[in-house]
Amino acid sequence: MQIKKLHYLSGITITIFVGLHLFNHFISIFGIEYHLEVMDKLRLIYRNILVEPILLLAVFVQIVSGLKLFGTKRKTVSSFFEKLQLWTGLYLAFFLIIHVGAVLTGRYILQLDTNFYFGVAGLNTFPFNLFFIPYYALAILSFFGHIAAIHAQKMKQSIFGMTAEQQAKFILLKGIILTLIIFYGLTNGFTGVEIPEAFNILLGK
Ligand code: HEM
Ligand code: HEM
Repeated sequence: MQIKKLHYLSGITITIFVGLHLFNHFISIFGIEYHLEVMDKLRLIYRNILVEPILLLAVFVQIVSGLKLFGTKRKTVSSFFEKLQLWTGLYLAFFLIIHVGAVLTGRYILQLDTNFYFGVAGLNTFPFNLFFIPYYALAILSFFGHIAAIHAQKMKQSIFGMTAEQQAKFILLKGIILTLIIFYGLTNGFTGVEIPEAFNILLGK
Protein backbone atom coordinates (compact mmCIF):
# COMPACT_ATOMS: atom_id res chain seq x y z
CA MET A 1 0.00 0.00 0.00
CA GLN A 2 1.13 3.53 -0.70
CA ILE A 3 2.71 5.20 2.33
CA LYS A 4 0.48 8.24 2.03
CA LYS A 5 -2.64 6.08 2.07
CA LEU A 6 -1.36 4.17 5.11
CA HIS A 7 -0.63 7.48 6.86
CA TYR A 8 -4.12 8.69 5.99
CA LEU A 9 -5.83 5.55 7.34
CA SER A 10 -3.91 5.39 10.61
CA GLY A 11 -4.37 9.18 10.85
CA ILE A 12 -8.14 8.75 10.90
CA THR A 13 -7.88 6.09 13.62
CA ILE A 14 -5.70 8.38 15.76
CA THR A 15 -7.92 11.39 15.11
CA ILE A 16 -10.98 9.59 16.50
CA PHE A 17 -9.03 8.78 19.67
CA VAL A 18 -7.54 12.28 19.97
CA GLY A 19 -11.02 13.79 19.58
CA LEU A 20 -12.22 11.76 22.59
CA HIS A 21 -8.96 12.38 24.47
CA LEU A 22 -9.06 16.16 24.10
CA PHE A 23 -12.77 16.18 24.94
CA ASN A 24 -11.81 14.37 28.15
CA HIS A 25 -9.21 17.06 28.93
CA PHE A 26 -11.68 19.81 28.06
CA ILE A 27 -14.11 18.35 30.61
CA SER A 28 -11.59 19.15 33.37
CA ILE A 29 -12.89 22.76 33.35
CA PHE A 30 -15.94 21.30 35.16
CA GLY A 31 -13.74 19.71 37.85
CA ILE A 32 -11.20 16.95 38.32
CA GLU A 33 -13.81 14.45 39.54
CA TYR A 34 -15.75 14.89 36.34
CA HIS A 35 -12.58 14.42 34.24
CA LEU A 36 -11.84 11.16 36.11
CA GLU A 37 -15.42 9.94 35.66
CA VAL A 38 -15.38 10.64 31.93
CA MET A 39 -11.97 8.95 31.57
CA ASP A 40 -13.31 5.85 33.30
CA LYS A 41 -16.09 5.69 30.69
CA LEU A 42 -13.82 6.47 27.72
CA ARG A 43 -11.32 3.82 28.81
CA LEU A 44 -14.02 1.22 28.14
CA ILE A 45 -13.78 2.32 24.51
CA TYR A 46 -10.02 2.76 23.97
CA ARG A 47 -8.35 0.67 26.65
CA ASN A 48 -9.83 -2.73 25.91
CA ILE A 49 -7.84 -5.61 24.40
CA LEU A 50 -9.45 -5.12 21.00
CA VAL A 51 -9.10 -1.36 20.47
CA GLU A 52 -5.90 -0.48 22.33
CA PRO A 53 -3.54 -2.65 20.21
CA ILE A 54 -5.09 -1.09 17.09
CA LEU A 55 -4.56 2.42 18.49
CA LEU A 56 -0.96 1.72 19.50
CA LEU A 57 -0.24 0.12 16.13
CA ALA A 58 -1.76 3.18 14.42
CA VAL A 59 0.54 5.45 16.47
CA PHE A 60 3.55 3.38 15.40
CA VAL A 61 2.48 3.35 11.74
CA GLN A 62 1.77 7.10 11.88
CA ILE A 63 5.23 7.93 13.15
CA VAL A 64 7.11 5.64 10.73
CA SER A 65 5.05 6.60 7.66
CA GLY A 66 5.06 10.29 8.70
CA LEU A 67 8.84 10.35 9.00
CA LYS A 68 9.15 8.74 5.55
CA LEU A 69 6.80 11.38 4.09
CA PHE A 70 8.82 14.04 5.91
CA GLY A 71 11.98 12.75 4.25
CA THR A 72 10.53 12.80 0.73
CA LYS A 73 8.72 16.14 1.07
CA ARG A 74 11.35 18.12 2.96
CA LYS A 75 13.11 19.50 -0.11
CA THR A 76 9.99 20.38 -2.10
CA VAL A 77 7.71 22.29 0.29
CA SER A 78 7.19 26.00 -0.35
CA SER A 79 3.82 27.32 0.90
CA PHE A 80 3.08 28.19 4.55
CA PHE A 81 0.64 25.30 4.97
CA GLU A 82 3.00 22.76 3.35
CA LYS A 83 5.71 23.81 5.79
CA LEU A 84 3.24 23.75 8.67
CA GLN A 85 2.29 20.17 7.74
CA LEU A 86 5.92 19.09 7.75
CA TRP A 87 7.00 20.67 11.04
CA THR A 88 3.83 19.90 13.00
CA GLY A 89 4.23 16.30 11.83
CA LEU A 90 7.80 16.21 13.09
CA TYR A 91 6.75 17.56 16.49
CA LEU A 92 3.91 15.02 16.68
CA ALA A 93 6.45 12.24 16.06
CA PHE A 94 8.61 13.52 18.93
CA PHE A 95 5.59 14.01 21.21
CA LEU A 96 3.90 10.69 20.50
CA ILE A 97 7.09 8.69 21.16
CA ILE A 98 7.63 10.37 24.55
CA HIS A 99 3.95 10.62 25.51
CA VAL A 100 2.88 7.07 24.71
CA GLY A 101 6.20 5.76 26.06
CA ALA A 102 5.54 7.62 29.33
CA VAL A 103 1.97 6.34 29.60
CA LEU A 104 3.02 2.72 29.02
CA THR A 105 5.99 3.05 31.41
CA GLY A 106 3.70 4.60 34.02
CA ARG A 107 1.18 1.84 33.69
CA TYR A 108 3.35 -1.26 33.34
CA ILE A 109 6.63 -0.38 35.05
CA LEU A 110 5.68 2.18 37.72
CA GLN A 111 2.31 0.43 38.22
CA LEU A 112 0.48 3.76 38.38
CA ASP A 113 -3.04 4.61 37.35
CA THR A 114 -2.25 6.85 34.36
CA ASN A 115 -5.18 9.15 35.09
CA PHE A 116 -5.62 12.95 35.31
CA TYR A 117 -2.98 13.30 38.05
CA PHE A 118 -0.43 11.28 36.09
CA GLY A 119 -0.95 13.54 33.08
CA VAL A 120 -0.75 16.85 34.94
CA ALA A 121 1.78 16.17 37.74
CA GLY A 122 4.61 17.89 35.86
CA LEU A 123 2.39 20.62 34.44
CA ASN A 124 1.48 21.75 37.97
CA THR A 125 4.89 21.50 39.60
CA PHE A 126 7.82 23.90 39.27
CA PRO A 127 10.34 23.45 37.62
CA PHE A 128 8.83 20.52 35.64
CA ASN A 129 6.18 22.87 34.24
CA LEU A 130 8.90 24.71 32.30
CA PHE A 131 9.07 21.58 30.15
CA PHE A 132 5.43 20.48 30.31
CA ILE A 133 3.78 23.77 29.34
CA PRO A 134 5.40 24.01 25.88
CA TYR A 135 5.41 20.19 25.53
CA TYR A 136 1.61 19.82 25.86
CA ALA A 137 0.72 23.16 24.25
CA LEU A 138 2.76 22.37 21.14
CA ALA A 139 1.18 18.89 20.99
CA ILE A 140 -2.38 20.21 20.82
CA LEU A 141 -1.37 23.08 18.52
CA SER A 142 0.56 20.71 16.24
CA PHE A 143 -2.41 18.37 16.01
CA PHE A 144 -4.67 21.23 14.92
CA GLY A 145 -1.90 22.67 12.73
CA HIS A 146 -1.46 19.35 10.92
CA ILE A 147 -5.21 19.06 10.29
CA ALA A 148 -5.43 22.73 9.22
CA ALA A 149 -2.57 22.20 6.76
CA ILE A 150 -4.31 19.19 5.20
CA HIS A 151 -7.55 21.15 5.03
CA ALA A 152 -5.90 24.12 3.30
CA GLN A 153 -4.46 21.87 0.61
CA LYS A 154 -7.42 19.55 0.03
CA MET A 155 -10.52 21.69 0.53
CA LYS A 156 -11.91 23.01 -2.73
CA GLN A 157 -15.13 24.67 -1.57
CA SER A 158 -15.64 28.01 0.08
CA ILE A 159 -17.78 28.11 3.24
CA PHE A 160 -19.64 31.33 4.13
CA GLY A 161 -17.42 33.07 1.58
CA MET A 162 -14.25 31.82 3.33
CA THR A 163 -11.50 30.40 1.12
CA ALA A 164 -9.84 27.09 2.04
CA GLU A 165 -6.88 28.98 3.53
CA GLN A 166 -9.15 31.18 5.63
CA GLN A 167 -10.99 28.07 6.86
CA ALA A 168 -7.63 26.52 7.74
CA LYS A 169 -6.69 29.62 9.74
CA PHE A 170 -10.02 29.30 11.53
CA ILE A 171 -9.10 25.69 12.47
CA LEU A 172 -5.78 27.02 13.83
CA LEU A 173 -7.63 29.64 15.87
CA LYS A 174 -9.90 26.95 17.32
CA GLY A 175 -6.77 24.97 18.25
CA ILE A 176 -5.32 27.95 20.11
CA ILE A 177 -8.57 28.59 21.99
CA LEU A 178 -8.97 24.90 22.90
CA THR A 179 -5.36 24.78 24.14
CA LEU A 180 -6.04 27.71 26.49
CA ILE A 181 -9.30 26.17 27.76
CA ILE A 182 -7.66 22.77 28.34
CA PHE A 183 -4.74 24.40 30.20
CA TYR A 184 -7.25 26.26 32.36
CA GLY A 185 -8.89 22.92 33.26
CA LEU A 186 -5.66 20.97 33.76
CA THR A 187 -4.27 23.58 36.18
CA ASN A 188 -7.45 24.13 38.22
CA GLY A 189 -8.12 27.53 36.65
CA PHE A 190 -4.37 28.38 36.60
CA THR A 191 -4.21 28.11 40.42
CA GLY A 192 -2.43 24.73 40.48
CA VAL A 193 -3.47 21.15 41.24
CA GLU A 194 -2.36 19.32 44.37
CA ILE A 195 -0.87 16.01 43.20
CA PRO A 196 -1.65 12.94 45.38
CA GLU A 197 1.34 11.25 47.05
CA ALA A 198 0.92 8.14 44.92
CA PHE A 199 2.46 10.13 42.05
CA ASN A 200 5.48 11.41 44.02
CA ILE A 201 7.81 9.18 42.01
CA LEU A 202 7.08 11.29 38.90
CA LEU A 203 8.31 14.40 40.70
CA GLY A 204 11.48 12.86 42.15
CA LYS A 205 10.08 12.92 45.70
C1 HEM B 1 -1.72 12.73 15.19
C2 HEM B 1 -1.03 12.17 14.25
C3 HEM B 1 -1.17 12.46 12.76
C4 HEM B 1 -2.30 12.57 11.98
C5 HEM B 1 -3.75 12.50 12.44
C6 HEM B 1 -1.85 12.79 10.61
C7 HEM B 1 -2.67 12.92 9.51
C8 HEM B 1 -2.26 13.20 8.23
C9 HEM B 1 -3.09 13.22 7.06
C10 HEM B 1 -4.59 12.87 7.05
C11 HEM B 1 -2.32 13.58 6.00
C12 HEM B 1 -2.79 13.77 4.54
C13 HEM B 1 -2.47 12.53 3.76
C14 HEM B 1 -2.98 12.67 2.35
O1 HEM B 1 -2.65 13.66 1.68
O2 HEM B 1 -3.76 11.80 1.92
C15 HEM B 1 -0.98 13.80 6.49
C16 HEM B 1 0.09 14.20 5.73
C17 HEM B 1 1.39 14.29 6.18
N1 HEM B 1 1.85 13.96 7.45
FE1 HEM B 1 0.71 13.41 9.01
N2 HEM B 1 -0.48 12.83 10.59
C18 HEM B 1 -0.02 12.63 11.89
C19 HEM B 1 1.28 12.54 12.30
C20 HEM B 1 2.38 12.76 11.49
C21 HEM B 1 3.74 12.54 11.90
C22 HEM B 1 4.18 11.97 13.25
C23 HEM B 1 4.53 12.93 10.86
C24 HEM B 1 6.04 12.85 10.89
C25 HEM B 1 6.83 13.76 10.47
C26 HEM B 1 3.66 13.39 9.77
C27 HEM B 1 4.05 13.90 8.53
C28 HEM B 1 3.21 14.15 7.48
C29 HEM B 1 3.65 14.65 6.17
C30 HEM B 1 5.11 14.99 5.78
C31 HEM B 1 2.51 14.75 5.36
C32 HEM B 1 2.45 15.27 3.92
C33 HEM B 1 2.32 14.14 2.95
C34 HEM B 1 2.23 14.62 1.52
O3 HEM B 1 1.54 15.60 1.23
O4 HEM B 1 2.87 13.98 0.66
N3 HEM B 1 2.35 13.23 10.19
N4 HEM B 1 -0.96 13.55 7.86
C1 HEM C 1 -2.69 18.43 27.52
C2 HEM C 1 -2.42 17.46 26.72
C3 HEM C 1 -2.45 15.99 27.07
C4 HEM C 1 -2.47 15.35 28.29
C5 HEM C 1 -2.46 15.97 29.69
C6 HEM C 1 -2.50 13.93 28.03
C7 HEM C 1 -2.56 12.93 29.00
C8 HEM C 1 -2.69 11.58 28.77
C9 HEM C 1 -2.93 10.57 29.76
C10 HEM C 1 -3.08 10.83 31.26
C11 HEM C 1 -3.00 9.37 29.13
C12 HEM C 1 -3.31 8.00 29.75
C13 HEM C 1 -4.77 7.69 29.49
C14 HEM C 1 -5.29 6.48 30.22
O1 HEM C 1 -4.59 5.87 31.03
O2 HEM C 1 -6.48 6.17 30.01
C15 HEM C 1 -2.79 9.60 27.70
C16 HEM C 1 -2.76 8.65 26.74
C17 HEM C 1 -2.55 8.88 25.41
N1 HEM C 1 -2.45 10.12 24.79
FE1 HEM C 1 -2.47 11.93 25.74
N2 HEM C 1 -2.52 13.73 26.66
C18 HEM C 1 -2.47 14.96 26.06
C19 HEM C 1 -2.46 15.21 24.70
C20 HEM C 1 -2.37 14.24 23.72
C21 HEM C 1 -2.28 14.50 22.30
C22 HEM C 1 -2.32 15.89 21.66
C23 HEM C 1 -2.18 13.30 21.67
C24 HEM C 1 -2.05 12.96 20.21
C25 HEM C 1 -1.64 13.77 19.26
C26 HEM C 1 -2.21 12.27 22.70
C27 HEM C 1 -2.13 10.91 22.47
C28 HEM C 1 -2.26 9.93 23.44
C29 HEM C 1 -2.22 8.49 23.16
C30 HEM C 1 -2.05 7.85 21.78
C31 HEM C 1 -2.40 7.84 24.40
C32 HEM C 1 -2.37 6.31 24.68
C33 HEM C 1 -3.75 5.77 24.91
C34 HEM C 1 -3.71 4.42 25.60
O3 HEM C 1 -3.56 3.41 24.91
O4 HEM C 1 -3.80 4.38 26.83
N3 HEM C 1 -2.32 12.89 23.94
N4 HEM C 1 -2.61 10.97 27.52
